[in-house]
Amino acid sequence: MSFDRSIKIAPSILSADFANFGQEIQAIEAQGADWVHVDVMDGHFVPNLTFGPPAVKAFRPHVKTFMDVHLMIAPVDPYIEAYAEAGADMIVAHYEAGPHPHRTLQAIKATGAKAGISLNPGTPASVIEHLLPLCDMVLVMSVNPGFGGQKFIPSSVDKVRQVREMIGDRQIHIQVDGGVDPSTVGPLVAAGADCFVAGSAVFKGGSVDKPEIYGDNIRAIRAAAEAAQG
Ligand code: DX5
Ligand code: ZN
Repeated sequence: MSFDRSIKIAPSILSADFANFGQEIQAIEAQGADWVHVDVMDGHFVPNLTFGPPAVKAFRPHVKTFMDVHLMIAPVDPYIEAYAEAGADMIVAHYEAGPHPHRTLQAIKATGAKAGISLNPGTPASVIEHLLPLCDMVLVMSVNPGFGGQKFIPSSVDKVRQVREMIGDRQIHIQVDGGVDPSTVGPLVAAGADCFVAGSAVFKGGSVDKPEIYGDNIRAIRAAAEAAQG
């Protein structure tokens, strides 16, 4: 993957039909998704449970674009290799998942996958200063992680601006996750984010039998984002 700051839409398959992941992934990619975002939850770091490495391995052959795996698990280090072997293109761990986020990023890089660090809404941007040399992406959570369909937290826009300043001209993506839709994406783009996770805003109203709705939803987010690019 070559680096650029063009707008990327990453639908979260947390909002897909859980009985039909293969077709759902193919449908969102055919309808314009740039990345496929996989939300891994452990019922401990967040109050919800989702996908182990075998599930991610089963998604892999369906993903033709880029699979970013968002690990909302603690501890995280013991599972990094398994998610890399399952085929994650990028592994994102939470800053809050343990005492050694620097070591966690080193461990992700050692697998050959791209590495990202994620910040909960209550965590300040400043904590990533010494982690940035190991990061391919910073994920700014704009809801408290655990569930799709939550309300966007407006102060995330300021955090994106701070992260963008800290990054300078380094080749590091800024992703925003939670409550992203055509009404919230504009200020995030203006603040410097380039990659947008969207669950409900992509999947609402559509299905594998009505995939064009996914396309309409993705285009609506992209249009609002590109309009804010200036
Ligand atoms: C939240 C997850 C998100 C979530 C986004 O814990 O990390 O990826 O699925 O869902 P929406 O877009 O519905 O807020
Ligand atoms: Zn996520």
